[in-house]
Amino acid sequence: MNQIKVFAPATVANVSCGYDAMGFALSELGDDMVFTKTATKAIRITEIHGADLPFEADKNVVGVVARLMLEDSQVDFGLDIKIHKNFKPGSGLGSSAASAAGTAYAVNQLLESKYDNLQLTKFAMQGEVTACGSAIADNVAACIYGGFILVRSYDPLDIVSIPTPSELVATIIHPQIEIKTEEARKVVPKSIPVKTAIAQWANVGGLISGLYARDFDLIGRSLIDYVAEPERKLLIPHFTNVKEAAMNAGALGVGISGSGPSIFALSKGMFAAKQVAEAMNTIYEKSGIDYIIYVSNISKTGARLI
Ligand code: HSE
Repeated sequence: MNQIKVFAPATVANVSCGYDAMGFALSELGDDMVFTKTATKAIRITEIHGADLPFEADKNVVGVVARLMLEDSQVDFGLDIKIHKNFKPGSGLGSSAASAAGTAYAVNQLLESKYDNLQLTKFAMQGEVTACGSAIADNVAACIYGGFILVRSYDPLDIVSIPTPSELVATIIHPQIEIKTEEARKVVPKSIPVKTAIAQWANVGGLISGLYARDFDLIGRSLIDYVAEPERKLLIPHFTNVKEAAMNAGALGVGISGSGPSIFALSKGMFAAKQVAEAMNTIYEKSGIDYIIYVSNISKTGARLI
């Protein structure tokens, strides 16, 4: 294989209660990238569509992850890379993670699957360091593993795949404003009272239990974030109104997607998810802010060849 094209799904990190610890992958949204082996050892980004990102390989997460992997595997080829971004950086939908994880997956294909998913996640996390200054795993792991994931531990890294009920459908509104993850992380409290921690970890347990048992009411009851959302929602115009409208329209739960500004809802079934989309639209159509609404199944597979 000298040339491959990959799809890297957009992802929803945190899933309300699981700050930095949970995420899931979307079916209907993601980036495409083309990787071509070259005879020189250089890594060149030859095309970028859909976003204003650096072409210099050592400043772009794609180049950073590709370089780490080629050096670690001591191969004597280089890469030409074309990037097609289908959703914007700073969206809260794992844009940098799709670039990093998609690259890790693609380079591994060209290395004949030398690395396992955990190792790919570690490489991709280095891309997140370049993008936002923190080695966060929730978006990249969801992008590599697909479905719902739990980052059970960062040190040592331990990623657990959680079953994804097929009936769950995500509705996402992406207001076209940019929130930098690095900035959004600064507003999350550095410490929380034990009482808050108890409520938060009880919801993570509830969410995971609900996903295993396909208990949609339990999933919905558990989609509550006492840690990041109270501060971060202040950065997102009309968050409270969107959440209320989506819940009234039948969503199981609503929260901030990753570090925002996107807002996600989970619903049981496509019909309910579309009703939620209409409710979100009702709030934003009067806002004067541009926005895109996505309704998507949850992808049980992560980055893949196309
Ligand atoms: N868990 C990370 C955060 C995801 O919420 O900051 C970044 O998209």
